[in-house]
Amino acid sequence: MNFPLFADQPTALCQNRMQVHDIRRETPDVWTLSLFSHAVYPYQPGQFALVNIGTRGDIQRAYTLSSTPGVSRFVTLTVRNIENGAGSGWLTQQVKPGDYLWLSDAQGEFTCSSQQPLLLLAAGCGVTPVMSMCRDVLKRTPAQSVAVFYSVRSPKDVIFAAEWQQLAAQYPQLHLTILAEQDALPGQITGRLNQDLLQTQVPDIRSRRVMICGPAAYMQLAESWALALGAAAENIVTEQFQAAAAPVSEEHQLTLTRLTPLLSCRVPVGTTLLAAMEQYDISVTAACRAGVCGSCKTRILSGNYHTTSQMTLTDADVAQGYVLACSCQLQGDVTLA
Ligand code: FES
Repeated sequence: MNFPLFADQPTALCQNRMQVHDIRRETPDVWTLSLFSHAVYPYQPGQFALVNIGTRGDIQRAYTLSSTPGVSRFVTLTVRNIENGAGSGWLTQQVKPGDYLWLSDAQGEFTCSSQQPLLLLAAGCGVTPVMSMCRDVLKRTPAQSVAVFYSVRSPKDVIFAAEWQQLAAQYPQLHLTILAEQDALPGQITGRLNQDLLQTQVPDIRSRRVMICGPAAYMQLAESWALALGAAAENIVTEQFQAAAAPVSEEHQLTLTRLTPLLSCRVPVGTTLLAAMEQYDISVTAACRAGVCGSCKTRILSGNYHTTSQMTLTDADVAQGYVLACSCQLQGDVTLA
């Protein structure tokens, strides 16, 4: 089905129309948009949605649904305004209350239905799914212990600051630790999360389900500490939506060739296929940019590459050379269909 590319129309991926009720500034660079949905919008705490961006609606970006079904009055998106970020700049600076947005169905596996005690580790904007899950668990299963470690640069960067205070005061089963790299306030810890801190503060980590969301490097470290402290690998979940960017070597170049129409270009080894295609205006749709939504599915005929996600691909797709361009690092000369 073809959809017109106007802001007031759905697109193939985003067919849930919502009206912006209000926009609240959380920190100097993070805003929460509260959205009113006339229809039921099913989602689970911790999931994300793709959002049509701009007046043409021809690009999508993925944002965590920071609200909690059954608890929050509105569906909310909490968005950091990233410099030169097409999606975040539009959502935080141009969209106004009363405007309409189009969202995809909720997606993602970073959800929690376990009754196990929880250890939730978040850094920066990675706190958005953590807050969504926290509200849900605290209200739904009062016997479930929830330990949260939330890392920020400084106290002014704490997202949902007032709500965290209120939850910590209301729910004794919530053990909240805020770590600020600088200017920590009384009750906060100065510095970054580390293995010693987890060892002393969460002695029962082996029995907890560990859920981690933040920048890729943070997630890798936090996962390694949890494993070193005895948490079982099957009990550790990281948010793949925050996937790591591959290191790129500027010194070694490869040739990317497309057969129809013929195009040949040079890009550094380690570049993602998506970045290479966008750089050379090869048509590609990319919504989540993290190997989750499947919108950037692309066929490679031959070449040397490795992939970090095949989440939406079937075995038959992979056998035919399909990859998710956002999750495909080019290692040698590659030919596209
Ligand atoms: S853009 Fe979503 S999987 Fe690549």
